Amino acid sequence: MKIFIDTANLEKIREVNSWGILDGVTTNPSLVAKEGMDFETLVGEICNLVNGPISAEVMSETANEMVDEARKLVSIHENVVIKVPMTEEGLKATKTLADEGIQVNMTLIFSAAQALLACKAGARYISPFVGRFDDVGEDGMRLVSEIMDILDSYDYNTEVIVASIRHPIHVTHAARMGAHIATIPYDVLKKMFKHPLTDIGIKRFQDDWAKMSKKQ
Ligand code: E4P
Repeated sequence: MKIFIDTANLEKIREVNSWGILDGVTTNPSLVAKEGMDFETLVGEICNLVNGPISAEVMSETANEMVDEARKLVSIHENVVIKVPMTEEGLKATKTLADEGIQVNMTLIFSAAQALLACKAGARYISPFVGRFDDVGEDGMRLVSEIMDILDSYDYNTEVIVASIRHPIHVTHAARMGAHIATIPYDVLKKMFKHPLTDIGIKRFQDDWAKMSKKQ
């Protein structure tokens, strides 16, 4: 499974990229707004940090304006992927952009029906938001399972980016379902390292090694 980081923060991207396991980056308008930087400059900086798909979202509401905005964004760097919201206008824009060879990540996917339409339109990626289901007491991973069932039956050139991740179990469940990508917030990535038994085991090895060294 590919691992993307779900942030627009350059420091966090830089730190996680140093681990050697990062395959791409997703941003969204809320994540970009937190950074207080010029959008296109920020996207360019991210592209210079990570050699992989970098999702940047259009804010226009009509298909024609989305397409125009997308063409500008992809001129920043060859790795820019255009995030388009799942709307009728977004679907039309996705079809136009896909036909031009521009990679689209259709986002704000909350149903298998939406996912199917996005695949039909030629989206290179689709982003089901699992955490926002969990936030209201539902099981977001069920949607991923439904989408993977559909993709298993057809040869769409679409990869699933499991998004809106709240904890490491979302990541491992996504991997067990065969999802192509998980886009993971920095804090969740840091939690993936941690297990108390690992810490206890390291301490025990260090203590036993120290005892042995004293005897020699
Ligand atoms: C992908 O980048 C999505 O925009 C993001 O994962 C949404 O996460 P949230 O539901 O925590 O806002």
